[in-house]
Amino acid sequence: MPIEWDADARQLHLHNGRISYIVRVLADGSLGQLHFGAALADGRSYRHLGGDEFHGFANRLGEPVALEYPTAGRGDFRVPALEVEQPDGSTVLELVYAGHRIRPGKPAIPSLPATYVERDDEAETAEVLLRDTSSGTEVRLHYTMFRDLPVIARSVRITNAGSGTLRLRCAMSAALDLPDAQWELLQLSGEWARERHVWTRQLGPGRQAISSRRGASGHEHNPCLVLRRPSATEEHGEAYGFSLVYSGNFLAEADVSPFGTTRVRIGINPETFSWTLAPGETFATPEVILVYSDAGLGTLSDTYHRLYRERLARGTWRDRPRPILINNWEATYFDFDEEKLIRIAASAAELGIELFVLDDGWFGRRDADTSSLGDWSVDRRKLPHGLEGLARRVEALGMRFGLWIEPEMVSPRSELFAAHPDWAIGVPGRARTEGRNQYVLDMARPEIVDHLAATLSALLASAPISYVKWDMNRNISEPYSLALPPDRQGEFFHRYMLGVYELYRRLTEAFPDVLFESCAGGGGRFDPGLLAYAPQTWTSDDTDAVERLRIQWGTSICYPLSAMAAHVSAVPNHQVGRVTPLATRAAVAFFGVFGYELDPTTMSPEERRAVAEQVAFYRAWRELFRRGRFLRLRGPFEGDGNEIAWMVVAEDACSAIVGQYTVLNVPHPGPRRLRLRGLDPARAYRVSTWPATEETTARLNAGVRGGDELMRAGLLLAPDRWEAAARGDFSARLFVLEAVP
Ligand code: DGJ
Repeated sequence: MPIEWDADARQLHLHNGRISYIVRVLADGSLGQLHFGAALADGRSYRHLGGDEFHGFANRLGEPVALEYPTAGRGDFRVPALEVEQPDGSTVLELVYAGHRIRPGKPAIPSLPATYVERDDEAETAEVLLRDTSSGTEVRLHYTMFRDLPVIARSVRITNAGSGTLRLRCAMSAALDLPDAQWELLQLSGEWARERHVWTRQLGPGRQAISSRRGASGHEHNPCLVLRRPSATEEHGEAYGFSLVYSGNFLAEADVSPFGTTRVRIGINPETFSWTLAPGETFATPEVILVYSDAGLGTLSDTYHRLYRERLARGTWRDRPRPILINNWEATYFDFDEEKLIRIAASAAELGIELFVLDDGWFGRRDADTSSLGDWSVDRRKLPHGLEGLARRVEALGMRFGLWIEPEMVSPRSELFAAHPDWAIGVPGRARTEGRNQYVLDMARPEIVDHLAATLSALLASAPISYVKWDMNRNISEPYSLALPPDRQGEFFHRYMLGVYELYRRLTEAFPDVLFESCAGGGGRFDPGLLAYAPQTWTSDDTDAVERLRIQWGTSICYPLSAMAAHVSAVPNHQVGRVTPLATRAAVAFFGVFGYELDPTTMSPEERRAVAEQVAFYRAWRELFRRGRFLRLRGPFEGDGNEIAWMVVAEDACSAIVGQYTVLNVPHPGPRRLRLRGLDPARAYRVSTWPATEETTARLNAGVRGGDELMRAGLLLAPDRWEAAARGDFSARLFVLEAVP
């Protein structure tokens, strides 16, 4: 996996046998981009692939030059990666190569989450220094190439090595110039309860972007952008992924030039950002993970899944089976007391559920969402024996106990707000806008982070708490920090995120055995930044099985099943009123970190038997779901989206589970096949269906089948009109494949 420096060509070639990333010092000293994509042979010069010098917008042949970290103001009118306001008010920079170094491993990024290595031989990092002499701006471009993955992790450090004050107005994590524009842009967009749906559009001239300016990555757009060839499929064709390890305001943009080249840039959203750099100070950008696949979207996703599961997530829970939980939110909302909770927990324990999570409403006097955020002491009206008393009773049932918190918030009706009204974000002299009846604490202020660290540490130490759900239910309005002078208010949003990360760091380090799950009104902050601290995220408040097919499919473009919390909830569903079969709800939620979000005391004996079977099934297979390779087979965003199928395959291909779902039933559908992927063609697999039925499909597929047959001919679906007549809408079945000797 060497990173090669060719002194004659002044070329740096990062390659690992799967991809190559090649940059080169141009004649005028600027850093040009030559190639990022499929592996090219080492030991050769590729300098002819790029223009020889940067000369305004174009080189001497009149073509745009591909630049590695472009700046504005010298004739390149495409979007820049860096804009620095200098003491004289100018923003023109001439960044010139000033050296580089190559080292094994991967350094951490100060105060920011990032991917990592456990051993230095897992990756190699190049650091290229660019310098603008007249302003004293120094830029260090970091590139880490992972040995076993088609991944480059990029980040940037910008230092003021001059004597005057600099102000960063734009500091992207990376820019990438691609030589053509024959791409479809794929984004993961939506809203509360319908997060991360897949949207694609053909690239056209000009700028096309997704972004956030709400103080969180957001429900609306995920900080992930994919470019794919229009002909690319799950298995074939080229695709590039750009995934930002950040949870705040971001921008991901493709800018197509009149020459039909494409510049992608991704990083902190410059619209809501500026940063003052005094002499000697350094600013570090978040990291972006670039993935290249020439084997379709499936390989792109598989790469992200592996990296995020194994080298972004960290701590005790990274490699551990996750407990099957029951959360009381949709069972009780705010209306509970200790006895009611214990009845739910006891009933769940009988079904084999392993963790009871107490959601919102346990603290202060929170009988509705109108009060008490910030007052993290137990409400003894509801829980007379405190959290400890409740947790001990839960543990006596053979379960673990987990707790909901929303640290970043404060209710106007709370003791915390009465004591510290200035801790809530707002502009002095202006009214604050409420969202869900609450304000946001100024996490940019270290004393507030200190207060929360102390309060929450005491809380977590006060009872046997094994799991924490860290929620965040509104975005930031009236952005302003009392800790910052007027000319540094542009730093507020990023400093807010640094405060959140700092609090996460302190709590996860102080409580290494606690499993953290992040949440933001469902999936409003489902991003790689938080996955570095909390290995799982509440995927969406929408637990309807049909909605979840779309949400989990879209989420899987970038995120592994081990990150996606997925629960079975009651019907009619609380978000869409839909009634789906219990087995379907489970068959969807299995493909994630499984749990329940309902009141088991109200279920019929038959439903309870079914839930007990679901729990037993997931227990038997949960490591396959957590660590297996997830493959998308038929998508809810393709065609009429009525037939969906996906599967998970063990790394050694010895077992696999296929989920197959039909949204609206079709009469007399006729025989169809479902081709699988990722199996070992040389192996034979015993095929069974879950739940066990006498359906024709189950009978026809039962038995031993070759991996080659399952991948090239496929499973047989719905070959019988009588079976179709009996199925009803929203049906699901799982096929379980186990290799036989
Ligand atoms: C939003 C979360 O997504 C829900 O699961 C629940 O925890 C509520 N907040 C509680 O206020």
